[in-house]
Amino acid sequence: MNAVDDNKVIIFDTTLRDGEQAPGCSMTLNEKVRVAAALQDLKVDIIEAGFPAASPGDFDSVRTIARSIESSTVCGLARCNSKDIKRAWDAVKDAASPRIHVFVATSQIHREHKLQMAKEEILKSAVESVSLAREYCENIEFSPEDASRTELEYLAEVVQAVIGVGATTVNIPDTVGYAVPGEFFEIFKYLKNNVSGIDDVRLSAHCHDDLGLAVANSLAAVQAGARQIECTMNGIGERAGNCSLEEVVMAIKTRESHFGLKTGVDTKRLYPTSRIVANVTGMHTPRNKAIVGENAFAHEAGIHQHGMLQNRETYEIMRPEDVGRSHSNLVLGKHSGRHAFRERVEQLGFPLDDIELNRCFEKFKRLADRKKDMYDRDIEAIIMNVDVGKAGPWIIDELRITAGTGTVATAVLKLSHTDGREIREAAEGDGPVAAAFQALEAGTGIELTLKNFEVRGVTVGDDAQGEVTVTVEYNQQSFRGHAVSTDIVESAAFAYLEVINRILRRHDSNGDIEEKTIAVGNP
Ligand code: KIV
Ligand code: ZN
Repeated sequence: MNAVDDNKVIIFDTTLRDGEQAPGCSMTLNEKVRVAAALQDLKVDIIEAGFPAASPGDFDSVRTIARSIESSTVCGLARCNSKDIKRAWDAVKDAASPRIHVFVATSQIHREHKLQMAKEEILKSAVESVSLAREYCENIEFSPEDASRTELEYLAEVVQAVIGVGATTVNIPDTVGYAVPGEFFEIFKYLKNNVSGIDDVRLSAHCHDDLGLAVANSLAAVQAGARQIECTMNGIGERAGNCSLEEVVMAIKTRESHFGLKTGVDTKRLYPTSRIVANVTGMHTPRNKAIVGENAFAHEAGIHQHGMLQNRETYEIMRPEDVGRSHSNLVLGKHSGRHAFRERVEQLGFPLDDIELNRCFEKFKRLADRKKDMYDRDIEAIIMNVDVGKAGPWIIDELRITAGTGTVATAVLKLSHTDGREIREAAEGDGPVAAAFQALEAGTGIELTLKNFEVRGVTVGDDAQGEVTVTVEYNQQSFRGHAVSTDIVESAAFAYLEVINRILRRHDSNGDIEEKTIAVGNP
């Protein structure tokens, strides 16, 4: 393969690995499977499903995804040690197209302070690990972590060595988002000019957004010959996040005359996929976010609107329908039937089977009794939250709140457990939400430290639904839950219980709360 002549840029999605690693973005197994299915529908080439050695839960989710995905390659991450590599292979081996991604840090600061390893030791470890991974799998990616801060000569030496033992993709990470486009371009050019056999492997860019340059750096890399971009939906990821998939894909498509490149992504699935990831992670995109933000295609200024009416291209470089945004925000109401509901769900791009559709339609009808107009975002919230509060083990049967000016808020709660237990609990708090949280903690025996509490209106109007996202800490781990209701105290209670249930479910499946291996440890 001569990657330079190839005009297709491979899209390697790491939403489920680097994205999920971000605080508060952790997903349950079902959520990961749902996101992986959406990424397959989006036609990304590779799904990095997780880091199998990090925890038993990560292993299970990578294996489940590997077994369920048919048309994208499924990749598992591994550090340079035999245990990680074996674990990664065991997790991905049933995939239609498996890949193992091996990494080790190469920069001086990582060598000295994180790994305490000399250059030669790291080189040896990289070579042994890629050789071992190649015994399991033909498709091997290697990443020299913190490559953009690594001495160029040493970087080239490591890249040359791993190509020599069978790496098929070499990924150059800008791990801390330090690079600027011209410099990142030069790193790729240097490798192209100084590593023999480099044209026989696929070069890849993996950029973080600490300086807001992840997309620009990734585009600079493809201009220098990279033909794989690692990115995440909505740009989620550690710290400021990763290169945003929707932005980089639309830059390549919209400026095809400039780049002369293509991706295989079905851009009409970008917006629905972005909504699924935002709903599942609770990481909502800013209104002005390129491509998928609420305002990305809104024209407010009169002069712009006038121009748009004459010719859309005066102020529009992409058509909203090309990224899967519908023009109409048709309003449904309590008289809308199953057929109209199904049609809207399909237009919004949510693939539901008949059983799921029926469950959502029932919820739609119940909600339509409380709320006059049902907008697209209400329908999305129904789809994404239809199972919230039902997975147990604890279920809220009743919640009564008394609150008002000059009175202490109280919550009276009736909870039932899937093992048959029923509990009544009453608690006081500074306000209705605090009282509900106290009652839930007392009833379930799980004490949490609330780190963040966010409320947002799903739509507009005085009967709008409120979405609550809570981020809590338990056993030094961060957990997130969210729920939607027309009553925000109710959404807050459901969101809090969702977190408690997540913790208890993990407890049940592992005997203890699972600890993730820290990704940066010694190989
Ligand atoms: O940012 C990084 O360096 C990574 C590697 C594991 C590829 O995520
Ligand atoms: Zn990364």
